[in-house]
Amino acid sequence: MHLLRTPAELSEWTETARRQGRRVGLVPTMGFLHRGHTSLMEASHERADLTAVSIFVNPTQFGPNEDLARYPRDLEGDLHKCREVKVDAVFTPEAGAMYPSGHRTFVEVTKLEDGLCGGRRPGHFRGVATVVTQLFALARPHVAVFGEKDWQQLQIVRRLAVDLHLGVEVVGMPIVREADGLAMSSRNAYLSGPERTRALALSRGLQAARARWAAGERGAPALCDAVRGELRAGEVREDYVELVDPSTLEPLERADRGDARLLVAGFVGKTRLIDNTAIGC
Ligand code: PAJ
Repeated sequence: MHLLRTPAELSEWTETARRQGRRVGLVPTMGFLHRGHTSLMEASHERADLTAVSIFVNPTQFGPNEDLARYPRDLEGDLHKCREVKVDAVFTPEAGAMYPSGHRTFVEVTKLEDGLCGGRRPGHFRGVATVVTQLFALARPHVAVFGEKDWQQLQIVRRLAVDLHLGVEVVGMPIVREADGLAMSSRNAYLSGPERTRALALSRGLQAARARWAAGERGAPALCDAVRGELRAGEVREDYVELVDPSTLEPLERADRGDARLLVAGFVGKTRLIDNTAIGC
């Protein structure tokens, strides 16, 4: 497994691969890897000849009062996991290499970044879109794999890849969950034992909404209330619960056509968690 530490090393490595006629897959991450992340690496293997993983806690996507400084890190453990799933190269840049002094360019995906997590975390998706564009520019991958766990992020990345003519196929993979339904997340490491139990309210809420849909309910308020009921039971403070069009992310009043997405964000103590599900299929 190649360790690539500078932006130039990443672009040289992928350029060599491309010249040899190999398809390059990229999996961007912020590390503290779990099975959600490794599922993306496996998906990349199926679609590309060589897979590069980036591990970079991107400062521009964190708000001033967010968890940048204490975001969990375990580079040795991460490299071990990458070796286990036979990743070909890992890119671990310094923040100063991605954002050298004088850096002035940011990428904004208008509208898509406004609501949901973007509404609650101003500037978050500007940071995400900027670093993902940088990574795409450096690696020029044929395919890049992202998780549906961050549904809004996935739609934003799909859009910027098309809008900026980057020629990268963006693949979305299903949410990987713990046996009890909790969506895997690096931030689950923040949860105490009792908080870990309360955090189940998010996935339970989404399940409850799906059950309401299966029983004939189609209205957004009732479906969202099904989620809220579980949040209350778990003492999870709602950040938002919304039924939206899966790709435009515009709010829906009803889930009639079988293609709606229900998204939830909530605080378990100080830890903010997100989850989402398809509704109607
Ligand atoms: P991070 O939270 O580390 O997630 C990296 C990728 O793993 C994202 O595409 C995310 O959706 C996916 N992922 C996380 N948990 C998952 C789960 N339980 N099941 C499936 N996929 C999961 O998302 C980011 O980092 C950053 O914003 C990044 C895109 C790297 C830009 O900095």
